[in-house]
Amino acid sequence: MLTRLASTSHEEVYRVEDDDTGLRGFIAIHSTRLGPAAGGLRMRVYDGDTAALEDVLNLSRGMSYKNAAASLPLGGGKAVIVGDPARDKTPELLRAMGRAINALQGRYWTAEDMGMSPADMAEIARETHFVAGLDHGRHASGDPSPITARGVFNAMRAGAAQVFGSDDLWGRHVAVQGLGHVGWHLCTLLHEAGARLSVADMDSTRVSDAVTAFGAIGVPAHTVHATQADIFAPCAIGGILNARSIPEIQARLVVGAANNQLATPGDADALQARGILYLPDYVANGGGIINVAAEILEIADRSVWVAERLGAMQATMQQILIRAEAENSSPAVIADRMVEDSLLQVAV
Ligand code: NAI
Repeated sequence: MLTRLASTSHEEVYRVEDDDTGLRGFIAIHSTRLGPAAGGLRMRVYDGDTAALEDVLNLSRGMSYKNAAASLPLGGGKAVIVGDPARDKTPELLRAMGRAINALQGRYWTAEDMGMSPADMAEIARETHFVAGLDHGRHASGDPSPITARGVFNAMRAGAAQVFGSDDLWGRHVAVQGLGHVGWHLCTLLHEAGARLSVADMDSTRVSDAVTAFGAIGVPAHTVHATQADIFAPCAIGGILNARSIPEIQARLVVGAANNQLATPGDADALQARGILYLPDYVANGGGIINVAAEILEIADRSVWVAERLGAMQATMQQILIRAEAENSSPAVIADRMVEDSLLQVAV
């Protein structure tokens, strides 16, 4: 079922196959230097196995950075299943994936990612203990989105203090891209803080709901990044900060929940060159993995622990911003450097 693939960049990489259930996928453990590798399981249609392998390698590396930035005793890992979740996902296939994860004996912990739900995690949990993001159970962490949104909101205040000289978001105009689980919670927090909102989503019902709930202004999804706003908050898709969008951004601060917002690492410098402060996504959106970590680590008093970790994440972001300003560098570059230093320190 598990075939180990050679890798120079990752500790362990496996092809996962099960003929009986049609399971095809990959599991990648990028690093266990800080603890067992943790990161979600994604199911989606890929343009071939090479694309799926590339995705799992990138995502697992990203989890090492995200977990380290959140000061969690967890390494980075990720798993993908090749297939259409709406058509190909069966309980048998999920249980086969559960057996594959179990064979790694806790070096990799899974949770939800794109195409997966808490019910799917419950199916996987029938075969392995090494699964989090469950709705039920002693340490179940449930929906991480409110915690993710809280972390993004805190980061936004830190960024606002630097750019506008005050962390008070009252009267600030924020353009939010994506009104899903995180985007909606973020809008709630921003509305409560007195911010003005422009919002976009592919789903027009969500936009009209936000207009009603928050007095938001609906804007087209394809131009939301160019809204004349103080802050742009990407909370939908990756790659939104790219050579085409960056010249059009009007906001002076960009911070949101979406993973992999930069299309290429060089886009961090392009934002910096335009005088736009971009807060590294994997630091800003670490609330979700903090929430999941409380389940993996079986924390008894989870609300206190999660609040402490969110506070530490905020302190890390502030440290990154101070260093970035001192070195006249993008916070994204500084964040990568800080994480790489901390991983190296553990390695020696
Ligand atoms: P979701 O799937 O609940 O919401 C995404 C929303 O974005 C949907 O309403 C969708 O219609 C909309 N959307 C998709 N493409 C769009 C486009 N081009 N323009 C405008 N809207 C578009 O996802 P969720 O959970 O809210 O996550 C949002 C982002 O944050 C994702 O990138 C996710 O990977 C990331 N993230 C989420 C965490 C969580 O706790 N849910 C944790 C860390 C990162």
